[in-house]
Amino acid sequence: MANQLFRKKTLASLVDESRRSPLKRSLGVFDLTMLGIGAIIGTGIFVLTGEAAAGTQHALGAGPALTISFIITGVACLFAALCYAEFASMIPVSGSAYTYSYHSFGEIIAWIIGWDLILEYAVGNVAVAIGWSGYFKNLLDGFGWHLPGWMSAASGTEMVQLPSGVWTELTPAINAHFADTIAQLPKEMALFNLPAFAITVFVSVLLYIGIKESARVNAFLVVIKIVLVLLFLWFGLPHFNPEIHWEPFAPNGWKGIMTGAALVFFAYVGFDAVSTTSEEAKRPQRDLPRAMILSLVICTVLYIVVAATLTGMVPLEVLANEKPVAEALTAVGEGKIAALIAMGITLTMPSVLLVMQLGQIRILFAMSRDGLLGSKFNTVNKRFATPSFATILVGLFVALLAGTIDIGVAAELTNIGTLFAFVLVAVGVWVLRVRQPGAPRKFKTPFHKVVCTLCVVICTGLMIALPYVTWIRFALWMVLGVFIYFLYGHRKSHLLTNPTQPDESGKVY
Ligand code: ALA
Repeated sequence: MANQLFRKKTLASLVDESRRSPLKRSLGVFDLTMLGIGAIIGTGIFVLTGEAAAGTQHALGAGPALTISFIITGVACLFAALCYAEFASMIPVSGSAYTYSYHSFGEIIAWIIGWDLILEYAVGNVAVAIGWSGYFKNLLDGFGWHLPGWMSAASGTEMVQLPSGVWTELTPAINAHFADTIAQLPKEMALFNLPAFAITVFVSVLLYIGIKESARVNAFLVVIKIVLVLLFLWFGLPHFNPEIHWEPFAPNGWKGIMTGAALVFFAYVGFDAVSTTSEEAKRPQRDLPRAMILSLVICTVLYIVVAATLTGMVPLEVLANEKPVAEALTAVGEGKIAALIAMGITLTMPSVLLVMQLGQIRILFAMSRDGLLGSKFNTVNKRFATPSFATILVGLFVALLAGTIDIGVAAELTNIGTLFAFVLVAVGVWVLRVRQPGAPRKFKTPFHKVVCTLCVVICTGLMIALPYVTWIRFALWMVLGVFIYFLYGHRKSHLLTNPTQPDESGKVY
């Protein structure tokens, strides 16, 4: 039994699989880097930074020390990226951490990671779609078109219509602000977040049409996104005043910094999505490591500067909302630029959805090809050469959840799932260095013992900093996954009928 649970795929069989892939190889290092940046910059930096800096009723804020939170998470992700890069250079197959685990640890761990990655990719997209919906609603409000409360937030959210006509969530801050009139204002319960649902459907249609087209749209959106960040810095930096706003620098000490870090980790999620496009890359073993590291380094630098600027230009109260970047600029008198940036964010945030959705579909594709999921997941559409069934199913799953659940729940689940995957990938790199020192690696993680250890330690620390309710949800999701494995994958796995053989040289890599 243990043998079956830990049956592994050999490197030779994986390489062979990638050669026979039906997917179109059209992506170069530029497209791949753009895909990385496309997945990274989004809700994390544009939405969650406010909450992470200022705190909420349930979580301590990092204060201006948010910059330190970004540095800690950036370092953890950089170590993880180096580990992913080594794997991507060894195993050019589209399942990312799922495939890497199949080779290093065996089937049951691979399944667990594949199942876990649904939290990173699909649930992550739920958070992004909800974050986007906030900006979109705001944009409509700016034109005087107020979306009814019942269709603009997660099911069960209590909404109130302000005197301006805008429907918003009835938070303690709104209660306090409109203390005298709140009883008279119209209220209703939200049923569904329609914009979050609609944007997911739109992105799914794009993905159905094809990867090259998706990559083109993505590259265009990424360029605008970087311009938006630079615009923010250009207009924000002249107001940078640390003597006033950085006092005190870390109002909640290390606890605040780590709580903030565990939340803004979401901002970095996505660089690893590049590794899911392995079978669509022209030279995966060379270009994937480059693209992952490059996209992460670019975003880390931008994030650290943005976090420092944001917290150094306005008091923390200004950041305690769902559009901190725009609010900070408005507060320093740059209202027009703030509106322009908010509009740009609405336009470009869907690139995160695009890449993460793509990643999710490719992982399901790989799991199904191994027999752990039904064969429909790897059926490729003849006309567009994309996995059509998986594209539709993932689209519906994400769209329905985005329409109904809360952004905090989705983001925290994403973070715990992603951190867990990073830990396993780091352990996997070290395990393979010991077990297969001679296996071909086009990229090697430098100082792998130090990098892998630090990656595990920091990622575990960030997991511990997440609320216990997130751990419970995570545990329930994993138990469900193991149950499904024994019900289906364990009995249908292709390794059952076609056990992996040593390659011609006799080596079982
Ligand atoms: N890193 C991505 C974002 O922040 C998931 O939206």
